[in-house]
Amino acid sequence: MRWDFVVVTVVGLVLSFAETSSGGITSSYVHITQGDHKGNGVIVSWVTTDEPGSDTVLYWSETSGVRLLAEGFHVRYKYYNYTSGYIHHCTIKNLEFDTRYNYVVGIGNTTRKFWFETPPKSGPDVPYTFGLIGDLGQTYDSNRTLTSYESNPAKGKTVLYVGDLSYADHYPDHNNVRWDTWGRFTERSVAYQPWIWSAGNHEVDWAPQLGEPKPFKPFTHRYHTPYKASNSTSPLWYSIKRASAYVIVLSTYSALGKYTPQNFWLEEELPKVDRNETPWLIVVMHGPMYNSYVSHYMEGETMRALHEKLLVQYKVDIVFAGHVHAYERSEPVSNIAYNITNKECTPKIDQTAPVYITIGDGGNIEGLAKNMTEPQPNYSAFREASFGHGILKIKNMTHAHWSWYRNQEVNSVTADSAWLFNRYHISSKESSVVAS
Ligand SMILES: [Fe+2]
Repeated sequence: MRWDFVVVTVVGLVLSFAETSSGGITSSYVHITQGDHKGNGVIVSWVTTDEPGSDTVLYWSETSGVRLLAEGFHVRYKYYNYTSGYIHHCTIKNLEFDTRYNYVVGIGNTTRKFWFETPPKSGPDVPYTFGLIGDLGQTYDSNRTLTSYESNPAKGKTVLYVGDLSYADHYPDHNNVRWDTWGRFTERSVAYQPWIWSAGNHEVDWAPQLGEPKPFKPFTHRYHTPYKASNSTSPLWYSIKRASAYVIVLSTYSALGKYTPQNFWLEEELPKVDRNETPWLIVVMHGPMYNSYVSHYMEGETMRALHEKLLVQYKVDIVFAGHVHAYERSEPVSNIAYNITNKECTPKIDQTAPVYITIGDGGNIEGLAKNMTEPQPNYSAFREASFGHGILKIKNMTHAHWSWYRNQEVNSVTADSAWLFNRYHISSKESSVVAS
């Protein structure tokens, strides 16, 4: 036996493994989100671990091929005993609509190339497909959910992410390495299509016992949003237009009462929505206002009491939320009649009111929320405790199709679906939801 050969080989293997596993620029990872209000901007974010490298993104459209550069910046943060890598953010603006772009980050031999597609310009009859994922985490089930979404022939173009990303706070000392591993896990989708971020309770990372009293510190350093473009003062609530949809993102875990910045912003935002340009008005948040599971039951009452009237008044079509680790779709429902003394506190089916969909079934470390309140309330149209994802296919200004896919099905068999008729563009006498 040539022991010297064995030793050299083993040392070589160890070094080789260390090079690929301990980081360096090879372990950078990328994610993108919308970078402006109207849909032709993209924020490219990526993390390098050992050196900052370049903040520049090289990009070109497949139609013109002309190479362009966008300059970004990078940030770092410390969290207890963790120091982040170099987190780069670069906003690319004024892209062509409905166009595929290639983009490259990195320098020298470490460049990595990806691509994305900009959405069509907003307009009333522009079809578009959103994927819905929430409470994903990073488990075997998380991987099944993402794989199921990626292989779904419905082909979501953009993910509306309903909060709770990495679950780093579930690990000792909020181990922020879990933020990095989640970034690597999700890159295979979010480097190629934007995920629209909303923050959940697992993004708060409030840990004064660790000397970390600033809420949302890891999330806001890592995941930027185009909030300034919608006159928001916080990255945690903002709006975007994307094709025929107007998406309003709210923060369940920020102040939301009457005289708070989030409420002022929402009250000014809703009247601005031009339903002839973007007929579909969608609200995304983490904690559900309507939830008939035992898990987190009635946690959303504060937000419902404060904001439901506005959502009904402005004919919001769909409210997506997560938090409950299961799936539930409501009938179009309203519970805004109650005034303390009139006893009218039962939710009513109202064809002009929003449909509420809980899609917190991404598959995280906490497992499924299996216990349901009984009996199933009238407003609850369908509920099931399985991991999965959703697809919203907007067909035109009046019709959209919603479908939910549970992970245990193969070949993307639909487990629940419904046609949704636009709240604003349909007579209130007609039924606005039909199970399909
Ligand atoms: Fe949650």
